[in-house]
Amino acid sequence: MRKITVIGTGYVGLVSGTCFAEIGNHVTCCDIDQTKINKLKQGIIPIYEPGLEETVARNVAEERLYFTTDIPSAIREADIIYIAVGTPMSVTGAADLRYVTEVAKTIGENLNAYKVIVNKSTVPVGTGRLVQRVVQSYLSDTTQTFDVVSNPEFLREGSALRDCMNMERAVIGATSDKAAQWIADLHAPFQTDILITSLESAEMIKYASNTFLATKISFINAVANICERVGADVTEVAKGMGMDSRIGSRFLQAGIGYGGSCFPKDTHALVHIADSVGYDFHLMKSVIRTNDEQREVVVEKVRQVLGPLKGRQLSVLGLAFKPNTDDMRDAPSLQIIPALLRKGARVKAFDPIASKEAVVHFGDKIEYCTRLEETIQGAEAILILTEWDEIKQLDLDRVKELVQAPVIIDGRNCFSLEEARAHGFIYHSIGRPV
Ligand code: UGA
Repeated sequence: MRKITVIGTGYVGLVSGTCFAEIGNHVTCCDIDQTKINKLKQGIIPIYEPGLEETVARNVAEERLYFTTDIPSAIREADIIYIAVGTPMSVTGAADLRYVTEVAKTIGENLNAYKVIVNKSTVPVGTGRLVQRVVQSYLSDTTQTFDVVSNPEFLREGSALRDCMNMERAVIGATSDKAAQWIADLHAPFQTDILITSLESAEMIKYASNTFLATKISFINAVANICERVGADVTEVAKGMGMDSRIGSRFLQAGIGYGGSCFPKDTHALVHIADSVGYDFHLMKSVIRTNDEQREVVVEKVRQVLGPLKGRQLSVLGLAFKPNTDDMRDAPSLQIIPALLRKGARVKAFDPIASKEAVVHFGDKIEYCTRLEETIQGAEAILILTEWDEIKQLDLDRVKELVQAPVIIDGRNCFSLEEARAHGFIYHSIGRPV
């Protein structure tokens, strides 16, 4: 059992810290945000993530998981310190490392024994070395030694606990064999494949993985756009491609493009990293552009089906960037809804949990509904932006009774063409025949 301190109780820090506690470690999660820590101490979880609340509560009750704002003490008590603070995108597209640097400084000032310092945040190649330099230069006791490790996380929002407890691999980039072994031992209970690399390679693996997945999505969206023009069905095409184990079937779901806190930020960051070392990553620039344009594809479909949108009543189903999260960061709805409003449409919207978040973005420009039926009532077209289960399971007979016109524009291919047609809908989806 190791004493672990996790600095930053955002998505990554909170989930990883909880999972390390779940496998039997003593974990202290810290944050500078007193309100957040107070809430966590009371069992109030600041993010929506299935299963997290119960798991946090259990580990707190069993005295393995603690929360504090006293970062210096938590550093001094720990064997392993995980840095999991935010690395927001700066105006240039580069990752902003100010919080990482600040934490490294605090670690240096409080280092009282050998410790392993682990970067969990997604950071540009070279950040591990930067942390090493900053910690070294702020050491209050210069006899102390430490190592730095890059141990990127591969969790998906909405299934983060499951992903963490059943991780497919742990990538460990370390400055010494001893540090690599400590972190490998820490991961032993997860019974996962472990890859030990250099610091730089581990940092690159995270960006290369996320941006490759983003590339798969933009690729299939581009293929979907061609499918529409040649009469093919992208779901059949993706299925056929995915049967080739070299391609794989996952992340080939065509739609309205990727969103969230990771892919948009990481694709821009990797372009920036490449630029900074003199490589023009035009492939990734196209991935980003294709993703941006995919939002417009769906707006154009609405316009084509309904004609001028002024005064038309639209029902938007789903606001979050994907199901099982209330996260609205870079959600396609943030571009699509304003585009519809600019064309004069009236929008009623529903999301099972992201409505509160959505108010921050749309204010009173749209009407928020708490029930699906209320949203659909009187709609001249239904627009699906997030594939929540309750949206996929809609009873189309009932929907038809409620709407003004039986039109569905489905940005997530939730229904089969046969089903939509059998219920008499004019059904436009992505990359499939009408
Ligand atoms: C992503 C990665 O999947 C995780 O491995 C990684 O750890 C995480 O970023 C991160 O860097 O923290 P996440 O952003 O939570 O996870 O969500 P995903 O499930 O990957 O979905 C991202 C976006 O791609 C969503 O907007 C989703 O709708 C879209 N997507 C995904 C598609 O449009 N088609 C697909 O086939 C799959």
